Amino acid sequence: MPAAGVGERLGAGVPKALRLLAGEPLIVHAVRALVVAGVETVVVASPADTVSQVEQLLGPVTAAAALAVVPGGLTRRESVAACLAALPDDAEVVLVHDAARPLVPEAVVRRVLGELANGAEAVVPAVRVADTVKEVTAGHVVRTVDRSALRAVQTPQGFRRAVLARAHADWRGPEPSDDAAMIEALGVPVRVVDGAAEGFKITGPLDLRLAQIICS
Ligand code: C5P
Repeated sequence: MPAAGVGERLGAGVPKALRLLAGEPLIVHAVRALVVAGVETVVVASPADTVSQVEQLLGPVTAAAALAVVPGGLTRRESVAACLAALPDDAEVVLVHDAARPLVPEAVVRRVLGELANGAEAVVPAVRVADTVKEVTAGHVVRTVDRSALRAVQTPQGFRRAVLARAHADWRGPEPSDDAAMIEALGVPVRVVDGAAEGFKITGPLDLRLAQIICS
């Protein structure tokens, strides 16, 4: 779980994963969502100065799972790589889940796990795009994109551990905004399952307010 973002767009000077939602930090919600779906080992990347605080926060919620907290990197990709390096040797499948998606329903986590159990190499949950999407350059519309083929992709994304480790080791491109982008670059098929509206990412203050309303 990459949770080392500073959360600049959310403000307040607290790392985003430690912002409270219904009395608990976002990271506690996000980890609980994985543990209830049967995840056995949780590895979190947090800002270096919050590693022991995050370990303590997650103790109660990971009673049924093994837990490791490691210092994150400068980018999301580096934070995921730090988590991968701390995985136990016998982990064969891996979910990568943003701490910033605290309300992902258990059903979505189980759908991703189900496709991995069916043999998929990589799985992403996705939702249809509600807005009309246009390509824009220098303040002018270049074209309208056919939205029927577009999907907004969420987490948790699921992978065979060996494939994800290879994708990270081989990556030479610009910073990707998710892990599946690196798998696509390898030419490995990425399976798509239904995500859920509740799996939205908390980026700005409005997202946090929406999450609070959902929890109230
Ligand atoms: O910034 P963004 O919302 O895209 O971040 C997605 C996830 O990646 C968040 O859970 C954030 O904590 C994490 N992240 C990280 N290390 C970074 C940057 C972001 O773990 N250097």
